Amino acid sequence: MNKKVRKAVFPAAGLGTRFLPATKSIPKEMLALVDKPIIQYGVEEALAAGIEQIIIVTGRGKSAIEDHFDVSFELESTLERRGKKELLAITRNVSNMVELSYVRQKEARGLGHAVLMARDLVGDEPFSVILPDDVIDAPVPCLKQMLDVFNQLQGSVLATQIVEGPAISAYGVLDGKQVAGNARVMEVKGMVEKPKPAEAPSKNAIIGRYILTPKIFELLEKTPLGAGGELQLTDGIKGLLETEKVYGYIFEGTRYDAGDKLGMLKATVDFALKREDLGPQFREYLKSLSL
Ligand code: G1P
Repeated sequence: MNKKVRKAVFPAAGLGTRFLPATKSIPKEMLALVDKPIIQYGVEEALAAGIEQIIIVTGRGKSAIEDHFDVSFELESTLERRGKKELLAITRNVSNMVELSYVRQKEARGLGHAVLMARDLVGDEPFSVILPDDVIDAPVPCLKQMLDVFNQLQGSVLATQIVEGPAISAYGVLDGKQVAGNARVMEVKGMVEKPKPAEAPSKNAIIGRYILTPKIFELLEKTPLGAGGELQLTDGIKGLLETEKVYGYIFEGTRYDAGDKLGMLKATVDFALKREDLGPQFREYLKSLSL
């Protein structure tokens, strides 16, 4: 294989019901974490990992995502006229960031179905998938860490972290064993999407970063509907195991589920505290609260 991973697919067609009513008219991917939409964190991570092309799988009501990454002529000329150089740079930076392609998922039929929609745009090469809800703060971008593993082992790589207790049921869960000599890599032997706590094969939950070989597309074509009556990406990857190696990678960094209210609140506090412009004042404010 030995091909470079150049593309990242962002499934962004989901309904965002966990964040209603905010997501009634705003795509959940556009919810702001401090001052950036959550999808921008994922796009920046992909670019920092050397990805050259971003493919966003959208659906009805998601046009705000396309507008966000597009040139905003009116806004830019107004900022220019008012001499707001810093804001102008921030705005232009978003539209200059990268080449984006969009493909539409007409019905929300599951994550596997969303990835399948990107088949023609990805073509016959290994690619990455980033779930924008999962915002990962890491010393080395999570996808970059995974690309290093992919380049070394030449097999699909799934991000994973330990999830304790019944919360494991919200995830795809890996079964496998640690690769000798690398405590962060496991060779995957099986996986289950959203198991009952007693049936989870391990505490290794799949987190929303994947590097996949193009064979996944033909497998997804024939994968039957799974958990929740949806075409599950996990079930497609399970099929890959029959002919290819799949690895789980315990990434270094902190993951936030920004598609969930509590996860978003935690991310907001942590990201704001780290900001040079906001951190000191925000810290003082938090300290003043009698909790
Ligand atoms: C999806 C995947 C699941 C994975 C999770 C990570 O589930 O189907 O395997 O563990 O993302 O965030 P969702 O959160 O869309 O239900």
